[in-house]
Amino acid sequence: MSDEFKVSMKVNGKVYECSVEPRLLLSDFIRHELGLTGTHVGCEHGVCGTCTILFDGMPTRSCLMFAVQASGHEITTIEGLGTMEELHPLQKAFQEKHALQCGYCTPGFLMTLVPFVEKNARPSDEEIREAIGGNLCRCTGYENIVEAVKLASEMMHPVE
Ligand code: FES
Ligand code: FES
Repeated sequence: MSDEFKVSMKVNGKVYECSVEPRLLLSDFIRHELGLTGTHVGCEHGVCGTCTILFDGMPTRSCLMFAVQASGHEITTIEGLGTMEELHPLQKAFQEKHALQCGYCTPGFLMTLVPFVEKNARPSDEEIREAIGGNLCRCTGYENIVEAVKLASEMMHPVE
C-alpha cells in the first residue's frame, strides 16, 4: 500500500525518517510514532493549548497540523526542553512557584512560554496573561503560573 508518505524531520535535535498516513495528526505522530508522550492532547481542535510544541522555534498547536506538513522542519517537544539533572529555568520556576497541580496542561504552557521569556526580561502581569491566553488550566487559577513566568524571566535575564 502506498497511501503513506515519507517524512523527515528533526525532533529535539534528532532526525527521524518515517512513513505516515497523510491524515495522521502531528500530535499523534509525536506521541504514538516517536513515543514522546510529554506532549499532551486535550481538545484536539486548537482550543486548550496542551499540545503546543515549538515548530521552527514558534509555539504551535500540534493537533492542528498533519505530520506530513512537518516534513523538513524542526520540532522541539517538552522532552527537549531540559533534563532531570538540569531543568530549564521555566521548569525550575514552575516547580518553585507551585505553578502546576495535575500537570496535564504544563508541557503546553512551558512550550508556549519559551520564546516569550527569552524575549521579555521583565514582563508585566498583563503581558504574561496575554502570552498564556491560549492555554487552559483547570487546576491552578493561573496566579502561580504568572508568578513562575516572572521568576523564570528574572533567572534568564539577571540584572547586571
Ligand atoms: S489538544 Fe491541541 S489545542 Fe487542545
Ligand atoms: S495543572 Fe491541572 S490542568 Fe493545569
